[in-house]
Amino acid sequence: MSATEQVSARISAPTETATRAIAATLAHACAPGDCVLLNGDLGAGKTAFARGFIQALSPGAEVVSPTFNLVQTYDTPAATIWHFDLYRLKTAAELVEIGLDDALASGITLIEWPELASEYWPRNALTIRLENEGQGRALTLTGAAARWKNHLPTH
Ligand SMILES: Nc1ncnc2c1ncn2[C@@H]1O[C@H](COP(=O)(O)OP(=O)(O)OP(=O)(O)O)[C@@H](O)[C@H]1O
Ligand SMILES: [Mg+2]
Repeated sequence: MSATEQVSARISAPTETATRAIAATLAHACAPGDCVLLNGDLGAGKTAFARGFIQALSPGAEVVSPTFNLVQTYDTPAATIWHFDLYRLKTAAELVEIGLDDALASGITLIEWPELASEYWPRNALTIRLENEGQGRALTLTGAAARWKNHLPTH
């Protein structure tokens, strides 16, 4: 079996505003069925990224971290956005209860702490790793070329 061809981009985001701008560009390239996995340590900026993404499609939306309820949904003209945070996930069965199947089938799905349930993500998911770079962050985006070639933000 040959490995799926991947595309990748690394972008510096010296400020939260820069992270939000990258997220907004990506949001406008997303469609129902897309899934974005947000990797990074505590405080890396996963929720900041998600807030920029959601507010690009739903200006003025109040975006709260779903750390305690595991998921928040946002109706936007493009799709319903499902924002998951799996940090407090107890069992894989909970994923179904909180709507993961519906999210992946017809929504745009954003997932913080995806490594806590790694076997569930679709082949075309886009992975974004956020890391410290000086006072800001560097974002590394990686995904299947079949979906993401020519659709990754580059700055
Ligand atoms: N370049 C940057 N991009 C994103 N956030 C930044 C940046 N620089 C500084 N920050 C700050 O880092 C913090 C990121 O917090 P955020 O809640 O988004 O992290 P998180 O990865 O979601 O953490 P958790 O794992 O606890 O959910 C915010 O206080 C934000 O202002
Ligand atoms: Mg968070």
